[in-house]
Amino acid sequence: MEGGVEAAGPEAGNLAGVRHVILVLSGKGGVGKSTISTELALALRHAGQKVGILDVDLCGPSIPRMLRAQGRDVHQCDDGWVPVFVDQQRTVALMSVGFLLERPDEAVVWRGPKKNALIKQFVSDVVWGELDYLIVDTPPGTSDEHLALLEALRLRRPLGAVLVTTPQAVSVGDVRRELTFCKKTGLRVIGIVENMSGFVCPHCTECTNLFSRGGGEGLALQAGVPFLGCVPLDPQLTQSLEEGQDFSQEFPKSPAFAALTSIAQRILDGTWAQAP
Ligand SMILES: Nc1ncnc2c1ncn2[C@@H]1O[C@H](COP(=O)(O)OP(=O)(O)OP(=O)(O)O)[C@@H](O)[C@H]1O
Ligand SMILES: [Mg+2]
Repeated sequence: MEGGVEAAGPEAGNLAGVRHVILVLSGKGGVGKSTISTELALALRHAGQKVGILDVDLCGPSIPRMLRAQGRDVHQCDDGWVPVFVDQQRTVALMSVGFLLERPDEAVVWRGPKKNALIKQFVSDVVWGELDYLIVDTPPGTSDEHLALLEALRLRRPLGAVLVTTPQAVSVGDVRRELTFCKKTGLRVIGIVENMSGFVCPHCTECTNLFSRGGGEGLALQAGVPFLGCVPLDPQLTQSLEEGQDFSQEFPKSPAFAALTSIAQRILDGTWAQAP
């Protein structure tokens, strides 16, 4: 298949039509993984790609809210679960544990084996059909979920990770641990994104650096992995996420939109997918 999907045998199953899989990781909670996953998916969609999002954050699934898809039903078909399409053109498919909860706000406490089984099922039993990109939003850190996920995706190529950090040193230090995790597990690093990098004034859209800037880029240089770009803290982006709006359509002039589009272009250029 074009795009280099190697696992076309029986193991590929429902993922046989998925051309690229991208995991979004961070060492720390709240740095913007779900935001970057959502906005990256939308930016890729705007570039004409068919995308899917798999929300593997079992304890805090937030993508359905960000895409205004809460409460939608997941249906079963003979081959597995049918994902929810968040747009009428059916170009963005979403599967989240949030759809399986009776009360979406309840904290979910899954125990180890159940968690791992659910993740495996998520990976193998969702009928994605043909997708250019499947973006996987993960919980913070490098826990059992990540290992279960990698185990379930072990034959998928191209498979890569986008690492999200904020500019502060603590978060950057956490990404250093993520890099070690990727190295140990053989997961390709597509690059690092520095999120909440500067603040976009809602009145004049000028960007001010609230915290130190450049930590993500410095770390990428040091580790010899690509730096994908900085996404500023933008109140209009927060608003879009809160209200489940399409940020690119609501605020196309925002510096955060430009940054996200440029990151999507780096992913689309495909260099990462061709590396051995
Ligand atoms: N660049 C940004 N501009 C404005 N708001 C942002 C930005 N990035 C993230 N946020 C906001 O910060 C909050 C945390 O982001 P998000 O939920 O994406 O983080 P996370 O890493 O997925 O968190 P968790 O580890 O809990 O899953 C959200 O309310 C989101 O709206
Ligand atoms: Mg999240």
